[in-house]
Amino acid sequence: MTMIEEIKRLKQEKNVLILAHYYTEDAVQTIADVVGDSYLLSKKAAASKASTILFCGVEFMGESAVILSPEKRVLMPDLSADCPMAHMVTPEDVARVRAAHPGIAVVCYINSTAEIKACADVCVTSSNAERVVKALDAQEIYFIPDANLGRHIAEKIPEKTFYCHDGYCPVHAKITAEKVMAAKAAHPGAKVLMHPECVPEALALADYIGSTSGIIDFPEKDGGGEYIIATEAGVLYALKNRYPGVSFYMASEDCICEDMKKNSLEKVYEVLKNADKVMTMDEGLRKRAEHSLKAMHRLASQEVQHV
Ligand code: 13P
Ligand code: SF4
Repeated sequence: MTMIEEIKRLKQEKNVLILAHYYTEDAVQTIADVVGDSYLLSKKAAASKASTILFCGVEFMGESAVILSPEKRVLMPDLSADCPMAHMVTPEDVARVRAAHPGIAVVCYINSTAEIKACADVCVTSSNAERVVKALDAQEIYFIPDANLGRHIAEKIPEKTFYCHDGYCPVHAKITAEKVMAAKAAHPGAKVLMHPECVPEALALADYIGSTSGIIDFPEKDGGGEYIIATEAGVLYALKNRYPGVSFYMASEDCICEDMKKNSLEKVYEVLKNADKVMTMDEGLRKRAEHSLKAMHRLASQEVQHV
C-alpha cells in the first residue's frame, strides 16, 4: 500500500476528518477532506460529526478547533507549526487600549493566541472582517494583531475609528511594491490578486484584494486568462486544478510559509497511526476564549463575504 492509500484507510477506520489550509503542501491538500481558508476550516471543524479532527495548519487553527469543539480530539501533524503574527500582541496591549478608550471594541484576527482571543470582543478572518466589524455597535475599533488587514478594513468602513496594532505577517511582507511592479511589467495583461496581509504599498497596486478563498474564486467570475498571485504559493495548487489553461505568476517566489509546510504527508501518516500529537488547552482558558470565536460565527453567518 502507498502512503496515500494508507492515510485514506486510517482516516476512515478511525473516523478522522482531515482539514488542510491552502498554504499546505500539494500532497497534503490531495488527501484532505476539506481544503479551505481560515474561516471555512473553522466552520468545518465546529460543525463536523467526526470524533477526531486532524488539522493541517498552524497552532491558532488547531487551538480554535479545540475552543469551539472541546468534545473532539484535535490532532496536528506538527505541534510546532505556528504563526509568528499570532504572538505580536499581548493581553497587556489590549488592557492599555481598553483603559484609554472605554467602549472600544477589540477585534482580533483569528491569527492570534487563545490568550488574546480571551481578552478580545470578537474574532475575524480576512473573509468576514468587513461584515463582522460593520455589524458591531461600537464606533471605535482596536484591530489586533495585523495592521495591514486592519487598515484595509478601516478604509472600507470610514464611519468607524480604527486603532490598528502593529503586527504583520513576515511571509506576506516579502511581497513588496517593487516586486509587484516588476511582475506587472513582465505580464502587462495580468490582473493582480492579493491577500490583505500584504503591505499597503503593495495593496495599492492590486486589482483584487481578498482572502485565499476569495483569490481562488476570483478567476471564475472574472473570466480572465492570466493573473499575478500575491499571497503564499500554496494557493497555486487549487488555482491550477480549477483553471486549466489559465496562467498564474507569483508576485514573489519566496512567499512561502515554512510553518504551514511543516505539515508533511509523512507527518500526517504518523499522527494518524499514533494519534500522539494532540492539541490541548487549559479548560479555563478555553472557556474564556470561546465567546470571541462564537461571536464571529454568529455575526458572519450565512454567506461568506470575501473582502
Ligand atoms: P485566510 O486563509 O483567511 O485567507 O488567511 C491566510 C493566512 O495567513 C492564514 O494564516
Ligand atoms: Fe502566519 Fe503569515 Fe504563515 Fe499565515 S502565512 S500562518 S499569517 S506567518
